[in-house]
Amino acid sequence: MILNIYANVKGFGMTADGSAADLVASLKGYLEELRESGVDGLSWASVQERAGVEPATEAVVPGEVATSREGETLEQIRAELGECQRCPLCTRRTNLVFGTGNPGARLLFVGEAPGRDEDLQGEPFVGEAGQILNRIITRMGLKREDVYICNVLKCRPPGNRNPEPAEIEQCGPFLLRQVQAIAPEIIVALGTFAAQTLLGTKAPISKLRGTFHDYHGIPLMPTFHPSFLLHNKKDTGKFWDVWDDMVKVLGKLDMPVPDVKRKE
Ligand code: URA
Repeated sequence: MILNIYANVKGFGMTADGSAADLVASLKGYLEELRESGVDGLSWASVQERAGVEPATEAVVPGEVATSREGETLEQIRAELGECQRCPLCTRRTNLVFGTGNPGARLLFVGEAPGRDEDLQGEPFVGEAGQILNRIITRMGLKREDVYICNVLKCRPPGNRNPEPAEIEQCGPFLLRQVQAIAPEIIVALGTFAAQTLLGTKAPISKLRGTFHDYHGIPLMPTFHPSFLLHNKKDTGKFWDVWDDMVKVLGKLDMPVPDVKRKE
């Protein structure tokens, strides 16, 4: 745990100047002292205090895990997140990206984490991958406002690296509460990371997609991430795989399936 925190702090771009190097050295010494004295865990707040960082007033420290509360609204969940400082991603974010769309949506899309555009605008899937997701939604005969869109992580990981377990641990309960507040009939997990995290599996997306799985009693369809489609534009088969998954989703929702012609 201590070493994880050290790795997180060290990983946060603190090598560029002398003061950052001093801070890392000081934290390292502090963590080693604690470990030698038998302490095997400490809160993010105490790391901030040691680093001389002023916590925001609404700060909630790790350990105060958000659990589901019956009847709560998305607004209440967002308010509880506040200026979240539960993990180190808070130090670099421009905006926390909570989610967008219809709070009573029948269909929920869950991606991985905000990217650069999302961090800047505070809304999920507004960059290039978002354009692809918009096309998928439109092809389904729906509008972005009809569905709800959010991510496993609410803050952008630096350089769009994969989310880390400690980050998922802090954000995951809020996602579950969002799901419970929205109570969608179906969830679409976009990409490997969202699918594996929500389903608690390491199975590859190519094996997971195409069939419904269960997330807290809600049917969940994993499919390829829009970014994957973007980076594999020539592989039109992957687009059709996603479309096939969405046809199954529409079928389960008892919604009409638009006639989309495939070129031979
Ligand atoms: N990729 C994601 O997984 N989520 C976003 O919001 C944007 C890109």
